[in-house]
Amino acid sequence: MASILHKSIYLLFSIFICTISSIYADCTIPVVLRNTWFSFENGKQTITDINASEMTARGVCVNIKADYHVNYTMVFRYTNCYYCVKLIVRTVNVLEKIETPCVDIGPDEEPTVERVCKGLNPDQSLTTLFSENSVPVNCRSSLEGVWQFAYQNRFRFTGECNHPDAQIKSCQTAGTQFLITNQKFNITYRKCPGMSGTFDGVVEFSCLGHWFVDKNHFFAVANTKESRKDERYRCFLKNRDDDLYIGASITPQCNTLKTVEKSPERYRINPVKAEVVEPGCRLPQNFSGNWINTANIDADVVINETHIIETYYPDEGRFRRTIYVCREQRDTRVMMARLTVDGCQKDYVCFDFVPQHHNVIRYRKGLAMIQSNFHTVCSWVQFKNQVRWRYDIFLKKDPTPIRCPVAGKFNFTQRGDVKFETRILGGVTLSPRPNLYCKLNISDFSVCDVDQKTIQIKENYCLSVDYLGRPVDIYSDPDYKMNCIGYWKENLKSYLITYDELDPFSKYRCWVYQRADLNRVLMSQALGPYCDLKQDVTSWNYTEGAAVAVEMEEYERERDQCPMHFDDGSDPWSTKENYIKVFSFSYSFWRGNSASTIHVFIPLYILVVVYLLK
Ligand SMILES: *[C@@H]1O[C@H](CO)[C@@H](O)[C@H](O)[C@H]1NC(C)=O
Ligand SMILES: *[C@@H]1O[C@H](CO)[C@@H](O)[C@H](O)[C@H]1NC(C)=O
Ligand SMILES: *[C@@H]1O[C@H](CO)[C@@H](O)[C@H](O)[C@H]1NC(C)=O
Ligand SMILES: *[C@@H]1O[C@H](CO)[C@@H](O)[C@H](O)[C@H]1NC(C)=O
Ligand SMILES: *[C@@H]1O[C@H](CO)[C@@H](O)[C@H](O)[C@H]1NC(C)=O
Ligand SMILES: *[C@@H]1O[C@H](CO)[C@@H](O)[C@H](O)[C@H]1NC(C)=O
Ligand SMILES: *[C@@H]1O[C@H](CO)[C@@H](O)[C@H](O)[C@H]1NC(C)=O
Ligand SMILES: *[C@@H]1O[C@H](CO)[C@@H](O)[C@H](O)[C@H]1NC(C)=O
Repeated sequence: MASILHKSIYLLFSIFICTISSIYADCTIPVVLRNTWFSFENGKQTITDINASEMTARGVCVNIKADYHVNYTMVFRYTNCYYCVKLIVRTVNVLEKIETPCVDIGPDEEPTVERVCKGLNPDQSLTTLFSENSVPVNCRSSLEGVWQFAYQNRFRFTGECNHPDAQIKSCQTAGTQFLITNQKFNITYRKCPGMSGTFDGVVEFSCLGHWFVDKNHFFAVANTKESRKDERYRCFLKNRDDDLYIGASITPQCNTLKTVEKSPERYRINPVKAEVVEPGCRLPQNFSGNWINTANIDADVVINETHIIETYYPDEGRFRRTIYVCREQRDTRVMMARLTVDGCQKDYVCFDFVPQHHNVIRYRKGLAMIQSNFHTVCSWVQFKNQVRWRYDIFLKKDPTPIRCPVAGKFNFTQRGDVKFETRILGGVTLSPRPNLYCKLNISDFSVCDVDQKTIQIKENYCLSVDYLGRPVDIYSDPDYKMNCIGYWKENLKSYLITYDELDPFSKYRCWVYQRADLNRVLMSQALGPYCDLKQDVTSWNYTEGAAVAVEMEEYERERDQCPMHFDDGSDPWSTKENYIKVFSFSYSFWRGNSASTIHVFIPLYILVVVYLLK
């Protein structure tokens, strides 16, 4: 018994080690490192070949240790001594290297990473290796925009060359099938009078990828027109806190860039202002406000009468903003000019909106085009014509609850990956229950507030009655409480969006619902704010994007005062408020513990009346 336990612990532990921290193998060099690399080492151009087992000038690999598939520390046997080489994968095209000199080890010592790499100095400067067979990558994450620049090169001239026509231009061409243009950017240099070493010319760079070291944002480039290898590769440095300068190396080495200001070559950049686009139409007034885009919950969407501004935060301290300006509108289609980054060319996108209802805007977006002709941009052909599609949605940031399309008191059974469970609202602890006789335990789904705007779910609800047959609601605190904020019917399915401030996973949840019978309703809750196209009322697992499916049956009791209501969402624009007002005082009167006092008071009351009549 104990040995089995031991074994399984050992097994678990070794799995843990293998997957989390490191991989020990005899030595197979991973595919990312196998290539022909160019570097500039000790003033010499160096070509390094790495294949599955060997590295040029270092020998045969005998031991390897990997950190998170990013850093690889390897021991190479070179005739009779050992090299320790640590390679850091920066991008598919760039590696950085630190190493030890060739060391001798004792005859009884194993050439392991621990032994040979003992003397590896982690603070030595990194050597940059550029792939000879580079795969160009999109420039977007490295550099995007248009800037006028002034530059300094301490090694070629003194002072700063500032010419108004000198420009750095890195723009993405939207909707280009062949993305080659998005993998390059241009720097236009201009000669400054009286400064030798400055020149007129356009240099085109292709992007090799970017990486961060703390706040330093490095990116590597290759000059597309340069055949001399030492002139071909360059490294650039930006800093997140400093959008005024860009640093560049003047050799194929990134280690010369310590800070932007102290770089061998330094560009002082000024964003070129985007041309102003005058709005040519107005969006419906009720679009104005703050929204979230369910396809990208991390984005803020602000809409006013003429603009849609979407701001997205790819990581801390950075943001990407896309501005759409209304240009022309016909029927439900609106052609909008799209401005991404300052200075880059604008393009045009067609939106097809469904009139707004509840807290929801539904829309489709066409392909972006350079031309501004409404008939071309907004032709129905521009909308991706998939067999199955659905409108995208924006949801109000501060939604106002609406009447739920499903209301009443239901018991339910559930099935799912993420089931509703008994908890204290806002926490996850099970509420302690004193010994109590429950006639029946059910799961309860009710929308019983006066306006029928809030769904309350109690996973384990104790149905019990007191000696007079009245229900006693002891655990009446719900486990879940969510507001309905929108519903509609699309593709023959009814969709509901709920909002729960306390939901740690997603405040907004999409549901698919359907009436199965006169008093039965089927619902399926999605994992997030949008419903998968495949999601159906019976979906319950992640393969269809669902968290849980519930089957509900009405069970209103005599005293519940909770009328049933169902709306399939085919006309979400009609404002149906609940006009059945239940006066709360009578409700609490019957429910309260005042029952015994009534018994006393009624005869008294009769007595008084009789007395008065006399
Ligand atoms: C790696 O390259 C060396 C020398 O070029 C060659 O001898 C060896 O067979 C190669 N190994 C593999 C696994 O391709
Ligand atoms: C990889 O190595 C570098 C330099 O030694 C270090 O700064 C970094 O934290 C390492 N990364 C991982 C994931 O171990
Ligand atoms: C860079 O400039 C050249 C010549 O002016 C031009 O042909 C090329 O398309 C430009 N490349 C980019 C990415 O703008
Ligand atoms: C809408 O927002 C844009 C950008 O913030 C602003 O320039 C414009 O004046 C606003 N329009 C209206 C009608 O408020
Ligand atoms: C918003 O305005 C459109 C027309 O301008 C109208 O059809 C729609 O019902 C309105 N929606 C709301 C929720 O008022
Ligand atoms: C609801 O409760 C009734 C009566 O207790 C039971 O017959 C029925 O199966 C329950 N329905 C569901 C969906 O749990
Ligand atoms: C109802 O649930 C309570 C607490 O979970 C349990 O003690 C009780 O036995 C259940 N009653 C029935 C009838 O299942
Ligand atoms: C998910 O649900 C579907 C349909 O309800 C079912 O066919 C499938 O086997 C389920 N998948 C898993 C992984 O449970």
